[in-house]
Amino acid sequence: MTISDQQRLKIEVAKAAVAEVPAGAILGIGTGSTVDCFIDELAQAKVPLQAAVSSSRRTTERLKALGYPVIGLEGLAGPIDLYIDGADEIDANLCMIKGGGGALTQEKIVASAARRFICIVDASKRVEVLGRFPLPLEVIAAAIAPVTWAVRALGGEPTLRPGVTTDNGHPILDVRGLTIQDPRALETALNQIPGIVTNGIFALRPADLALVASNHGVIRLQHN
Ligand code: A5P
Repeated sequence: MTISDQQRLKIEVAKAAVAEVPAGAILGIGTGSTVDCFIDELAQAKVPLQAAVSSSRRTTERLKALGYPVIGLEGLAGPIDLYIDGADEIDANLCMIKGGGGALTQEKIVASAARRFICIVDASKRVEVLGRFPLPLEVIAAAIAPVTWAVRALGGEPTLRPGVTTDNGHPILDVRGLTIQDPRALETALNQIPGIVTNGIFALRPADLALVASNHGVIRLQHN
């Protein structure tokens, strides 16, 4: 798949996602190049929102530039209506690896605060088993060494993402060498390691619906 093919598919899936957004919704919005397309299509379709809840500075800037009101979760009385985000990998159970763009912590927070989660991807992101894409971990800097030892014991090899700190000011470790047969179990295990702020497995709260764009159109995969 060439870059321009992939960009065309991102725009197609973004348009399909816009059709899922109820007018006047409180909408959670993820981060990444697919989400950038989604925000642009949302604005082009002039979909009115009550407000948007953003998962990153990057997304906040894009939303504000297009005139959308952005609020924090603290301003809300309960869950948001819908969360829309991309993914780095997604499996048949709609479990995902996310965090390639470094926004995994806020993404997981906003996703977990949403009644419905729609993941938007091009077909290159679909996998049978998660783990070929390096698994991002946002970590406390002082814990990099013990987190590395603990992750090695789980079979992965973490490396520091060079020159990157998250919106929260933390470094990211990317873990290679994992074949994630049980994403919920590994997400749970990583959640127990002191010093990991957030791991990029989204399995305990998978997507409810995936929109997947390929050269044959956009297909819908429901969570069963
Ligand atoms: C951001 O931190 C990630 O979780 C993104 O959702 C993921 O990397 C997908 O990004 P692209 O749409 O740019 O591939």
